[in-house]
Amino acid sequence: MDPIRNPYAPGAGQRPPELAGRDDQLRAFDVVLERVARGRPERSIVLTGLRGVGKTVLLNALRSQAVRARWGTGKIEARPDQTLRRPLSSALHQAIRELGHARSDEATHVLGVVKAFAQRDSAPGTKLRDQWNPGIDAPAVTGRADSGDIEIDLVELFTEVGGLAADLGRGVAIFIDEMQDLGPADVSALCAACHEMSQSGLPVIVVGAGLPHLPTVLSASKSYSERLFRYQRIDRLDRPAAELALTAPAAEEEAEYEADALDALFVATGGYPYFLQAYGKAVWDKAPASPITAEDVRVAAPEAEAELAVGFFGSRYERATPGEREYLRAMADVAATAAAEGPTESPSPDTVESVPTADVAAHLGKKPQSLSPARDALLKKGLVYSTERGRIAFTVPHFGRYLRDRA
Ligand SMILES: Nc1ncnc2c1ncn2[C@@H]1O[C@H](COP(=O)(O)OP(=O)(O)O)[C@@H](O)[C@H]1O
Ligand SMILES: [Mg+2]
Repeated sequence: MDPIRNPYAPGAGQRPPELAGRDDQLRAFDVVLERVARGRPERSIVLTGLRGVGKTVLLNALRSQAVRARWGTGKIEARPDQTLRRPLSSALHQAIRELGHARSDEATHVLGVVKAFAQRDSAPGTKLRDQWNPGIDAPAVTGRADSGDIEIDLVELFTEVGGLAADLGRGVAIFIDEMQDLGPADVSALCAACHEMSQSGLPVIVVGAGLPHLPTVLSASKSYSERLFRYQRIDRLDRPAAELALTAPAAEEEAEYEADALDALFVATGGYPYFLQAYGKAVWDKAPASPITAEDVRVAAPEAEAELAVGFFGSRYERATPGEREYLRAMADVAATAAAEGPTESPSPDTVESVPTADVAAHLGKKPQSLSPARDALLKKGLVYSTERGRIAFTVPHFGRYLRDRA
C-alpha cells in the first residue's frame, strides 16, 4: 500500500498515531492536576516499565495535558553522567515562561533565584564570565537556592516557584524521563523537595518515567518516597488496545485488517508498543491492498524483524563491550534453559527473563565476583536491571530471543 500514507511510527519517543490503552493514566493525571491546583494533598505519578512500552510518549502526553490545564511545564532527560542543576534550571525557566507574566516583579525575582541556583553549578570562585548561563535575562538573586547543597537548594527553589505559581492560580509540573539515571544526591534532593511541596500544599509536581527498578532507586534514597509517588506500571498492550493501536490509524487512511491478520500481529508483537509500530509499518508497505491479510503479515515479518534488529535491539547491543556481551548471552541461555524446563508459576511479563546471577556465573564457569564489573556496567548502561536481590533481567523485551537468534 502507499508508503507515503503509512501512519505507523516506530522509534524511541515517536508519537504514535493512536495512543492506545493509556486512558487510565490520562484520567488519573487529570485528577492529580485538578487536586494539586486546589492545594489538595496528592501523590505525583511515576511511570515504570521496560524499554519500548511507551513511557516517553505517555510522559509527553501528560505534559500536553498539563499545558492544556494552563500549567507551566518543563522536561528533563536524566543522564548517568550529568547532575540535575543545569537541566533542571532550564526546565524551570521554561515552566515559568509558560506561566506567562514573566515580566512581573515576582516572576523576575523567581527567575533570578533559578539563575543563582544554576550558577552554583560552577566551582566556587569561578569568574563570572566563565559561569554557565541558563539564558535567563533576569539578574541573579543571591541568598536563596544557592548554598551549594542540592537538597537545601532544591527545597528553596521549589518553594519559590510554587509560591509564584500559587499566586497566579496555576501549577508547575516538571517531567523527568529516564529518572533511574539520576545520581543519589539528586534523587534524595528531589524527594525532599516534593515532600516539602506536598506538606506546604504548593502546586509543584514532578512526574517521572523510568525502568522497572525506579521505585527501588527512590525508596533507597528516602523511605517516604512510596508516599510521594504513585507508581504506574506501563506494560505491553492487552489484545483490544493492541488492535486499536493498529486499526485506528489504518481506518484514518480507509484501510482495514482481516481478523486473522490481527491474530498474527498480536502473536508476533506480544502487544509491545514498539513492536506493534514496527510490524504495522512493515506490513503496510508490503501489503498489496486493503484489507491486510495474515499472509501479508507473514511476508512482511522478516522486514519488521530486521528493522527491530537495527533500531531497537542493535542500538542497545552496540553499547556493550565484548565481556558484557558474553554476560548478556549467558543470561539469554540461562533464561532459555529455565523456560524449556517448564513454566514457573505465572511469572509476570516483566520478569519472564529474570535469572539468578549465580546461574549466569555457573553457566560461564566463573566466580560470581569476577563478573560483577560486567554486571555493574550493564546495570549502569540500562541494559539489565535487578528485579530482586540476586536476580537480573533484560530491560529490553525479547532481548534474550534476539541474542540467541544472532548467535
Ligand atoms: N499506547 C501506545 N499505543 C501505540 N503505540 C505506542 C504506545 N505507546 C508507545 N507507542 C510506540 O512505541 C514506541 C516506543 O515508545 P517510547 O515512548 O519511546 O517507549 P519507552 O519510552 O517506554 O522506551 C514508539 O514507536 C511509540 O510510537
Ligand atoms: Mg523512553
